[in-house]
Amino acid sequence: MGAKSLITPILVLSLLPSFGQTSCTRCKAYPGTTSWPTVETWGQLNDTVAGRLMRPVPPGSVCHAEQPFYDEEQCIKVAQQWSVYEFHVQDPISVMWDVYSNNTCLPDPRVPCSGDGYPSYVINATRPEHVKAGVDFARENNIRLIVKSTGHDFLGRSIAPGSLSIWVHHLNKIEHHPNKFVLAGSGKIIPVDAVTVGGGAQMYDIYTATASRNRTIVGGGGKSVGISGYITGGGHSVLAPRYGLAADNVLQMEIVIPNGDIITVNEDQNSDLFWALRGGGGSTFGVITSITLQTHPSPSILSVSWAAITSSEASFALDFVTYLMSQLPYLSDSGFSGYNRVSKNTPSPVNIPGGPENITGIYGNLILQDVHDVNAVESILRPINETIHQRWGLAAFMFQQATQYDSFLDWFEDHYDRGSAGGQGYMGSRLFDKHSLTDDTASLKNALSPILDKHGGFNPFLVIGKGVQEAIPRGGSNAANPALRTSYIHSLFVQAFPPFNPTAEAEIIESFHESLQILKDITPSGGTYLNEAFPYEREWQQAFWGRNYKRLSQIKRAVDPDDVFWCLPCIAYDRWEETSNGRLCRAEHKVREICD
Ligand SMILES: Cc1cc2nc3c(=O)[nH]c(=O)nc-3n(C[C@H](O)[C@H](O)[C@H](O)COP(=O)(O)OP(=O)(O)OC[C@H]3O[C@@H](n4cnc5c(N)ncnc54)[C@H](O)[C@@H]3O)c2cc1C
Ligand SMILES: *[C@@H]1O[C@H](CO)[C@@H](O)[C@H](O)[C@H]1NC(C)=O
Ligand SMILES: *[C@@H]1O[C@H](CO)[C@@H](O)[C@H](O)[C@H]1NC(C)=O
Ligand SMILES: *[C@@H]1O[C@H](CO)[C@@H](O)[C@H](O)[C@H]1NC(C)=O
Ligand SMILES: *[C@@H]1O[C@H](CO)[C@@H](O)[C@H](O)[C@H]1NC(C)=O
Ligand SMILES: *[C@@H]1O[C@H](CO)[C@@H](O)[C@H](O)[C@H]1NC(C)=O
Ligand SMILES: *[C@@H]1O[C@H](CO)[C@@H](O)[C@H](O)[C@H]1NC(C)=O
Repeated sequence: MGAKSLITPILVLSLLPSFGQTSCTRCKAYPGTTSWPTVETWGQLNDTVAGRLMRPVPPGSVCHAEQPFYDEEQCIKVAQQWSVYEFHVQDPISVMWDVYSNNTCLPDPRVPCSGDGYPSYVINATRPEHVKAGVDFARENNIRLIVKSTGHDFLGRSIAPGSLSIWVHHLNKIEHHPNKFVLAGSGKIIPVDAVTVGGGAQMYDIYTATASRNRTIVGGGGKSVGISGYITGGGHSVLAPRYGLAADNVLQMEIVIPNGDIITVNEDQNSDLFWALRGGGGSTFGVITSITLQTHPSPSILSVSWAAITSSEASFALDFVTYLMSQLPYLSDSGFSGYNRVSKNTPSPVNIPGGPENITGIYGNLILQDVHDVNAVESILRPINETIHQRWGLAAFMFQQATQYDSFLDWFEDHYDRGSAGGQGYMGSRLFDKHSLTDDTASLKNALSPILDKHGGFNPFLVIGKGVQEAIPRGGSNAANPALRTSYIHSLFVQAFPPFNPTAEAEIIESFHESLQILKDITPSGGTYLNEAFPYEREWQQAFWGRNYKRLSQIKRAVDPDDVFWCLPCIAYDRWEETSNGRLCRAEHKVREICD
């Protein structure tokens, strides 16, 4: 605020020479202004990419009579498919969560439709050279540039108005390197089994390709999630408590950097970028065209459905769930990983004849890897079960049911994330270390209470833990949030809100700030998992990257001095801000109107 009066005089002076000229670097070029390239100029880009430049319309536009592709039958199909992840994956511009297209073209004839929330042009890239052409064009013409792989992003980083989008979905080749991989440049032989996948490859395709050799990568829970968005955020997994984050398993990447160079990064060359890309966030340092990952033998999986519940009427219900939360580090150290939910006053997930109508408790699906003795589950759970019965007698219940799967893929086929797309919502996340879960359960209980009340539940995932704490990524370290290295659980909560209701959205945002503050207070050394988080996180540098932020911002400045890449929340995003119509302007220049 104070800096405003300081910079204004300089601004006025520096603006004078460019006034009235076609290019204005205060803001990125925007459709409909003089700074936007002509159709001929875009045509030249199309020639460079062998005709792969597209001007797609929003898929919801088939529902709107005033739109050129209006089609009632198609509209019914699109509306039905709107909740299906793969529908948005296949579309060049659509993304999973409506809030990030600003609801500008829903498949619903009753609400307005325009292309305002969507990119203007898209390159359907199948080669690094197509990506390079797009990066060069955006840099030379001052165009806002984005990267879309699947559009899964919970923070909206793969869509932006008035932008050129590089769609990497069809960069999806998969190639094996049995038993060893040779690094580009140094020629160093890394004696591990590896796989190189295109920058747009999807989880399930990589799982099935590696499973054909009885191997797997450390990967996520969604079938259609793309590898590059996942890995640049760190990449948690049920296999991570054993093998480290997905980012810890990367050997090499190929990337198109902001100056247009197509380079290969590994521990021996371009090692700063190699460090930054593994946790520093997507679409920040360039466009990844391929990633080489170590594979692991596919483990057999002992899959455990479990629930520890009590009547929601029980006076001790909150003590009960707090106690169970405090046992999560023990479960993690005992080899369990997986997904849990804590809920208050919800219908029971298991049928208890004569039991309470609604319960409070924790339940979910956990796994043990390469454990063949079904009794192992019971012996790990026994001390918890005994404590429950000692403290709360027969008013509390604990259930478990174990199923053996021969391979990771066999288990995944039954347990992949079956969520749905569409709708509006935000997600909040916090990483908890052992201390915050086990040492001060009174504070934990006080924090849990308002979160459960406000957000209906809380998901403490066992997807980090020992393997992540002890991982030694190639080159010694990477940019993943240091809080992931000291934490046991990644917990998240979600909240939906109705569209076209700025008041409801503002309330949710405020309520997220409050909830995250409550969780921060009990996890002072914790942080947030970048890929499943609230985009407007306060103290975001610290929350997403901790002490790695400084080095990340130095690398960002060095590789992208002119901010060819920008997204929120991404490294150095505070140098720019979006105006109310979605145009991107430098934050330090308050008189952006002069630009038009
Ligand atoms: C159903 C589901 C399950 C999930 N499960 C897990 C899980 O188990 N573990 C986990 O850690 N996360 C999980 N996530 C979160 C996931 O990691 C993020 O949603 C991630 O952003 C998805 O990446 P994407 O490339 O598919 O998506 P996109 O939305 O296409 O991209 C995400 C970000 O990465 C950038 N990006 C994409 N490709 C490239 C590229 N080639 N080069 C440079 N930047 C690129 C985009 O610009 C954007 O900034 C899950 C998400 C969903 C929806
Ligand atoms: C790019 O060229 C192809 C092939 O000539 C054409 O079909 C396509 O419409 C062009 N794209 C744009 C945006 O003009
Ligand atoms: C994008 O390119 C791929 C590969 O050439 C092609 O199969 C696909 O149809 C293209 N998508 C669109 C929407 O043009
Ligand atoms: C994978 O494992 C199965 C079952 O153990 C075995 O029959 C098969 O030969 C293995 N395949 C490879 C490629 O090792
Ligand atoms: C039981 O849970 C459901 C869903 O959360 C809720 O709507 C209902 O009001 C609850 N019942 C009671 C008796 O609280
Ligand atoms: C917990 O103990 C009770 C009572 O002994 C028993 O019925 C139940 O099966 C146990 N639960 C688990 C998950 O071991
Ligand atoms: C989003 O849409 C609303 C109208 O629904 C509009 O007021 C607002 O300016 C839009 N935001 C952006 C960034 O375009």
